[in-house]
Amino acid sequence: MVIGIIIMKNYEGNQQHYTNIAVKYNDFLLFSDSYREWATDLIIESLALRPDDIVADIGGGTGSASHSIFKKAGLKNDVLCADPSDSMIAQAGRLKGVKPLCMDAHEFAENTSGKYDKLLLKEMVHHLTDRISLWNKLRGRMNRNGRLLIVTRPRIPPLPFFKAALASFSAGQPTSDLLAAELGEAGFRPEVALHSYSVSFEKERWYYLLQNRFMSNLHDFTDDEIEEGITELEQTYSDEKMIEVRDDLLFIMSLKIET
Ligand SMILES: C[S@@+](CC[C@H](N)C(=O)[O-])C[C@H]1O[C@@H](n2cnc3c(N)ncnc32)[C@H](O)[C@@H]1O
Repeated sequence: MVIGIIIMKNYEGNQQHYTNIAVKYNDFLLFSDSYREWATDLIIESLALRPDDIVADIGGGTGSASHSIFKKAGLKNDVLCADPSDSMIAQAGRLKGVKPLCMDAHEFAENTSGKYDKLLLKEMVHHLTDRISLWNKLRGRMNRNGRLLIVTRPRIPPLPFFKAALASFSAGQPTSDLLAAELGEAGFRPEVALHSYSVSFEKERWYYLLQNRFMSNLHDFTDDEIEEGITELEQTYSDEKMIEVRDDLLFIMSLKIET
């Protein structure tokens, strides 16, 4: 009962977070166009996307990854972009090659029709509840030789968070070992790869992102707590205009095993 209440509270907190940031979300995406190209190429390669593939992007948010893979992989069918936040998904509807659907991952697995060749879950796995049941349901929705790709971050990412922000990030983040074990149990063959992208980043821009709570682990911090966190970071960066930022992305590509 207590766990149920906590899960509901987290879910509502997440929903509120994405309602708050939906309009600015695309501006908040880390780094530059070249970063996005880099991530898009890795997704296409890891999913082995082919033009005929039927693809869904679960927790696809504003649809930017759906749109990029549609264009760059030359997909013939629109990418189904499912997300429970109506504010986020409202933006996906404006993009070519993206079919928006306001649903969470479990609803998607239970309530949509048709089968998929490739499923993408990018930067959203930390929001999922009841994951093993979801992996099983998604497996049932996939065609032969289907691939399911989770793109996420390690529990301790190298991003320059202040200590409390790093702790809140880690607390909500399942490890890749745990995810791989769950997927194996649900009839997939997972492979984990780590990809890193480094760039010099204007310090003030990073502080602006923190102040705008650009990631959901920052949602519960008050303005004062964020400013205290920035003061803490200034102990390291006071003399710098630019800071080195490295983003580590974990790609957990899981092939559906046929039984
Ligand atoms: C950090 S955003 C990532 C959006 C997009 N995948 C991207 O990489 O730009 C996380 C998204 O997960 C969605 N989300 C939260 N809980 C979810 C759930 N249970 N099922 C599906 N999506 C969920 C949020 O609404 C949000 O749009």
